Amino acid sequence: MPDKNTAASATPFLTDVATLRERARKHLEEGAVTSNYGADPKLVIKVLNDALATEIVCVLRYKRHYFMAQGLSSDSVKEEFAEHAAEEQEHADRIAERIVQLGGEPDLNPDSLTKRSHSEYKEGTSLVDKVREELVAERVAIESYREIVEWLHGKDSTTKRMLEEILAVEEEHAVDINSLLAGMKG
Ligand SMILES: [Fe+2]
Ligand SMILES: [Fe+2]
Repeated sequence: MPDKNTAASATPFLTDVATLRERARKHLEEGAVTSNYGADPKLVIKVLNDALATEIVCVLRYKRHYFMAQGLSSDSVKEEFAEHAAEEQEHADRIAERIVQLGGEPDLNPDSLTKRSHSEYKEGTSLVDKVREELVAERVAIESYREIVEWLHGKDSTTKRMLEEILAVEEEHAVDINSLLAGMKG
């Protein structure tokens, strides 16, 4: 029943203004999670916490490899590892921020990090082995982010967009690491 305040109700896909306003006033404690949020926020928070664990484990693995990289061509490898470690930390921060926006709590408990992480904390031995372990980890991250993005389609566009941006950076990481590896073999 449109009244003079609900001009937008003529838009077929948009709920009329009065209903939107009324719904927004309910469950204020849920913050950004409104009644048309398409996913189960608890499940999204859980999935994001596992992605957060993955990012933290990636930071730690890159740091370890950064400090331990030695030998010929280790300068360029070190530089790449340091840059990636910083970017994985940025991903972790963005994910933690989103968890809070959804009404959850970022799980940074060190006891469960490696259990929840998609990629493993594997210490490479030689320089080539370190680089190879990083490539494996990046490929795991790419696959899992791609699946999560797919799952969020039509459910939570903000989380989906954030993960798409992170996915694009993981793809760049894989390309960078792959070319390091190719350079070491050649
Ligand atoms: Fe990352
Ligand atoms: Fe990465």
